[in-house]
Amino acid sequence: MNNMKYVIGIDLGTSATKTVLFDVEGSIVASASYEYPMQQPHNGWAEQNPSDWYVAAITTLKKVVSESGVDSADILSLGISGQMHGLVMLDEDCKVLRPSILWCDQRTGKECDELTEKLGRDTLIKITANPALTGFTASKILWVKNNEPEIFEKCRHILLPKDYLRFRLTGEFATEVSDASGMQLLDVPNRKWSSVMIDAVGIKEEYLAKVYESPEITGYINEETASLTGLSTTTSVVGGAGDNAAAAVGMGVVEEGKAFTTIGTSGVVFAHTDNPVIDPEGRVHTFCCAVPDAWHVMGVTQGAGLSMQWFKNNFCDTEVSLANKSGKDVYMITDSMASDISVGCDKLIYLPYLMGERTPHLDPDCRGVFFGISAIHTKSHFIRAVLEGVTYSLYDCLLVLKEMNISPETMLLCGGGAKSKLWKNMICNTFGLPVATSRSSEAPALGVAILATVGAGVYNSVPEACRVMTSINSDSLQPEADITAEYRKYHSVYSSLYKSLKADYKTLALL
Ligand code: XUL
Repeated sequence: MNNMKYVIGIDLGTSATKTVLFDVEGSIVASASYEYPMQQPHNGWAEQNPSDWYVAAITTLKKVVSESGVDSADILSLGISGQMHGLVMLDEDCKVLRPSILWCDQRTGKECDELTEKLGRDTLIKITANPALTGFTASKILWVKNNEPEIFEKCRHILLPKDYLRFRLTGEFATEVSDASGMQLLDVPNRKWSSVMIDAVGIKEEYLAKVYESPEITGYINEETASLTGLSTTTSVVGGAGDNAAAAVGMGVVEEGKAFTTIGTSGVVFAHTDNPVIDPEGRVHTFCCAVPDAWHVMGVTQGAGLSMQWFKNNFCDTEVSLANKSGKDVYMITDSMASDISVGCDKLIYLPYLMGERTPHLDPDCRGVFFGISAIHTKSHFIRAVLEGVTYSLYDCLLVLKEMNISPETMLLCGGGAKSKLWKNMICNTFGLPVATSRSSEAPALGVAILATVGAGVYNSVPEACRVMTSINSDSLQPEADITAEYRKYHSVYSSLYKSLKADYKTLALL
C-alpha cells in the first residue's frame, strides 16, 4: 500500500499564481499556473484586483487536486507564499474596498516623509529595521487615509496579498512574521506588532491579522474552498512566507552563511542571519525569516524580470511571433540574440529603474535609462544591456551586504531569470562568485510546502525538512577573473550614472 502523504505550495506572484502539489520528500506531483494583469493607472502606480488572485488560486488548486489523482485526505497541509507589501483593505462585511496597491507602487513619497517627520528615521529603523519606504504597506495605508478618506473610514481589516487568500481559503485573519516584516508595522527584532507604528498610521491593532511563526498552523480549508477545489477540510494551512523568505526555504538557505539571488519580476539578493543585523543607512531590508528565531537581510532591485518583460512586450513582436511559430520560449530567443554581443554591449548601459529603485538608492523618482546609444547598436545590444543592467543592480545589493560583513562564498540562483544561461553567467562573473541553481524551479512554492510539512509534524524543524526536500544541481559555474574585471569596469560607469542623474530625476518627477 502506498502511504505517501502530500503538501501543497501556492505562490501568489505578481504576474501569475503557481500552485504545486509535492510529496513529503519534495517531488512535484502536479502543478498549475494562472496569469493576471497588473494595472498601472499612473506613472509609478501598480495595482491588482484581489479577486483575480482568488480565482487563480481556486482554479489552480482544483487542477492540481484532480490531475494528481491523490486522495485529498492524504494532503496534510498547505502553505501560501506571495508578493510582499501589497495593501488589501476590507470593510466590516469583509468586502474588498479598493484594488490592492502593490509592492512596486511608488505613489507614497509624501507619506514616507510624513512617517519620518513623525517618528524620526532612527526610531523607524530601530523598530521596523528599515527607513520609511514607498514599497512598504504602512505608507500605502497613510496614502489611502490622505487621498481616499471615505475608503479609509470604512476599513476594518488590513491584509497582505497571501493573507487575503488565506482568509478566503480558511476564513481566518492570520499572517506570519516574514511577510508582516514588510508592512513596516512589525517590531522586527521582537517579532510582534508595534503599537508605535500602529498609532503612527492611525489604525487599530484589531484591523491587523494575528501574527504566527511561518511553519505554525493558522487554520484549515473551509467548506466553500473544499467544495470548489476537491480539497479536504482536514488540510491545514500554515503561516507560509513572503515570496523571498519562502524561496530561501525552497533553496535550503536556512543557515548563517548561505545566500541566494532571485530574478523574478523584482530581483533580490538574500542572506540568512541568526541575528537581526541592520544596515544603519537602511539600503537593504532586515526581515524575520521563515525559520523561527532567525532573520534575513536582502537587497531589492525593483525592475529585474520586469525589465526584460517590458522590453519584450514593447519591442520584440518579431521574436514573440517566432516563438509562437516554433514553440520556443521567447526568452530563449532573446537570450541567444544577446549572446552574440560581447561584455559591455559595445558601451551601451541600461539602468533598470522602471519602477524607481530600492537598493542601494531608495529613490521612488528615478527611472530607466539607456546610456551611450550609438548608430552601431542593434536590438541584440539593447537586450543584452537590459540583462547586464539588472545584473549590475543586483551586484549593488551584494556590495551593501558585504559592507555589513555578510560575504557569501557561493550564490544560489532562482526565479524565472535562472532559466537563462546567459544571465546566470553574468551574475557569476559580475559577482565574482560560483553560482548554482536548485533542483526545484519553483523555490517559493516548495519553500511553503516545506513549511507545511513542518506544521503537519512530518519533520521537526525547517532545516531538517530542507535536508530531505531540497537539493542543489551539480551545475555550479565558476567566475573567470578576466571577465569579472571587464564587467566591473562597466559597473563602475553604471554606478556613477545614478549620481549624475539624481537631481534630474527629482526635477522630472516634479514636472
Ligand atoms: C520584496 C519585494 C518583492 C515582492 C515581489 O521586498 O518587494 O520581492 O515581494 O516579488
